[in-house]
Amino acid sequence: MLNLADGRLSWLPVQKWNQSCIALVSAGPGAFLRVLFVTTEMDDFVRVGGLAAVSAALPRALRSWSDVRIILPGYRDVVEQFLHIEIVGQCAPLADMPACSLGLTATKDGLPVYVLLCPQLYDRPGNPYGDASGRDWPDNDVRFGRFASAAAQLAAGALDKNWAADLVHANDWQAALVPAYLAWNAAKVPTILTIHNLAYQGLFPKESLRRIGAPEESFHIDGLEFYDKLSFLKGGIVYASHLTTVSDTYAKEITTSELGCGLEGLLRRRSDAAQLTGILNGIDESWDPRVCAQLAQPFGAGDWEGKRANSDYVRHQFGLAVSRGPIFGLVARLVHQKGVDLVLSAADEIIEAGGQIIVTGSGEPEIEQALVDAHRRRPDAIGVAIGFNDAQARRIFAGSDFTLMPSRFEPCGLSQMYAQKFDFSAASAARSRPSWRRIAWTRCAAARCRNRSAGTFRQHCTARSTGRLCRLKSMRSAAFPASQARSWRGPSRQRRQAR
Ligand code: GLC
Repeated sequence: MLNLADGRLSWLPVQKWNQSCIALVSAGPGAFLRVLFVTTEMDDFVRVGGLAAVSAALPRALRSWSDVRIILPGYRDVVEQFLHIEIVGQCAPLADMPACSLGLTATKDGLPVYVLLCPQLYDRPGNPYGDASGRDWPDNDVRFGRFASAAAQLAAGALDKNWAADLVHANDWQAALVPAYLAWNAAKVPTILTIHNLAYQGLFPKESLRRIGAPEESFHIDGLEFYDKLSFLKGGIVYASHLTTVSDTYAKEITTSELGCGLEGLLRRRSDAAQLTGILNGIDESWDPRVCAQLAQPFGAGDWEGKRANSDYVRHQFGLAVSRGPIFGLVARLVHQKGVDLVLSAADEIIEAGGQIIVTGSGEPEIEQALVDAHRRRPDAIGVAIGFNDAQARRIFAGSDFTLMPSRFEPCGLSQMYAQKFDFSAASAARSRPSWRRIAWTRCAAARCRNRSAGTFRQHCTARSTGRLCRLKSMRSAAFPASQARSWRGPSRQRRQAR
């Protein structure tokens, strides 16, 4: 157990924070813990990747025992979705960071959401981090420095006269400086930083230090300095009270030189001091094919007619040829990490062997273009939807026979959990004789491919297309354990089976 300096909280790993991980025990008996969840994406309003899904699901799972509130930057897309935002505070300018207002509003189901309003920084087209052509905004240091410093002020009780936080839960580099600003202002609010992907660090030239109002002495090997640059993520790793990441495996991987992105030494030190915990992601309960309203037809265990109706639906929607061959689905951010190139290099063989491919997502323009080109070449067999639409993604999971996940590395990954939730027919599949059966491409299979070659990946896919499924049985039992509990409310032990 760790007693935090101000004595307000004590906390210990494994118990209550999402009921399976970091426990936080409020000192006042019966008091509701006030948690500020700091994120730059949330599925309800704005999404780039898995962070948005976690930011929508985890706070909701925490609501029954904490007063959890979200803070988001007031991007154009976010602000436009609210009818009313009440202004509860004002932030003065700090260094090159402009003044801004803090608004308070709520999701449709009543989860309080603070929105940081600063049109100069956030009222732009494009995605949260860059313009429509995928280039990062040149002032991202100021945009997310402003966001982190305002969140720190809010947590410390300096912005909303009716609310302060007992705990800050910051996510990824964009929010990683919240613990740093709290420390620089001697505000004793305990903080957790969750690393969803260490590869994204928020690196800026050292001049950014002045722009974001960070003290000069923080540009130090034990502070924000990283190879003569300023690293937002390192700031969080240094200053947060505790670090978590999105799976046990990744908690270990980031302490190695292979996946530590140059921060492994520091992370190893924090891990050795029991200040780094792997907490497996969960998904929300809406991922249930029996009730999911977005599907062409709901289906349950062993309902191969229902399953086929969903396959036919996506085939038709994407203009693919009528077929009884398998559909290979890929739902991902279209970035190098996700291994889309492996899928493209396997495409011809998959198609030749009778399979079809459906991909959706957005990301690097070259990858998007390569997919569009592949679709133009084989419109009968390769369906592509650039962009992200939750309903579309669900229909692809429901219609696919195989979910592809050939990531080069994957901190956790949510697709394999969705894939498994959308096919709990494994047991009956073994007995029935559907023409094609669906297997989630488990992370372990993906990792095997990563360590081998693109050729191996091709062979795996082709084998599945042609029905030479020699390893089907063992893969199926690995991919479809009897328990389907993947939600944030269940113990992480159960979610672990999905990884
Ligand atoms: C990032 C990671 C992914 C993880 C997600 C949510 O997108 O790359 O593995 O599942 O965050 O934590």
